[in-house]
Amino acid sequence: MNRRYRKTIIAGNWKMNKTATEGKALLDELKQTIARVKWCEVVVCVPFVDIPMAIRALKDTRIAVGAQNLHQEQSGAYTGEVSASMLKDLGVKYVIIGHSERRQYFGETDSTVNKKIHVALEAGLHPIVCVGETLEQRESGITAELITMQVKAALAGVPAEKIRSIVIAYEPIWAIGTCKTATAEQANEVCELIRATIRKIYGARAARAVTIQYGGSMNAKNAQELLAQPDVDGGLIGGASLKAPDFTTIVEAANQ
Ligand code: 13P
Repeated sequence: MNRRYRKTIIAGNWKMNKTATEGKALLDELKQTIARVKWCEVVVCVPFVDIPMAIRALKDTRIAVGAQNLHQEQSGAYTGEVSASMLKDLGVKYVIIGHSERRQYFGETDSTVNKKIHVALEAGLHPIVCVGETLEQRESGITAELITMQVKAALAGVPAEKIRSIVIAYEPIWAIGTCKTATAEQANEVCELIRATIRKIYGARAARAVTIQYGGSMNAKNAQELLAQPDVDGGLIGGASLKAPDFTTIVEAANQ
């Protein structure tokens, strides 16, 4: 973390978990336990149908609501999809874009990720853009090239004045839901590389201001060590965001 230059952001990604009723119970707990958070921003990225509940439950708190996806067109004949303006209208602040599960199971590509970032920014949403390598890619030594390419492709055409609205999440695919966390050094190395890539495109000041999260089996036990790294500015948390005590401990580690 480096709070002098950029925000620390802890975001929970509930994925396809929690009905609105279950989600409300979790948020009611979190409102009590993380009411005094001062130094970091807390976000819960909930399923689409839980969004109105979450907005109501978190009104007058410092916890922001995020979505987990959106469609790349502004409106139109796309049955079953949700647009950026629909999310904005509900009071959503963040939206996860290009999560590896979307890339793996729903055919998202660097090109759709880029389009989604553009529609999100136009609507005034803050994209949380996910990048990450598979185990096979890491073992064949192409992590740096792959991540650099993913970041460049994601940010293509994004103007300099918008770059600070974007959060990047480094999520090594081999660490997601596997209990195999990247070491603090591995996480920092790639987050640093992402910042260097942004620096080359947008310059040092912009790169210094962008929040870069780590995600992948971050939990109450390892959060502190990961967040102590200079280029790890927060976390995107899956499993551990579904339990109030665990998520609270992670937020507290970021709030120190
Ligand atoms: P886990 O924390 O469950 O590994 O999930 C990470 C993730 O994919 C967050 O987006």
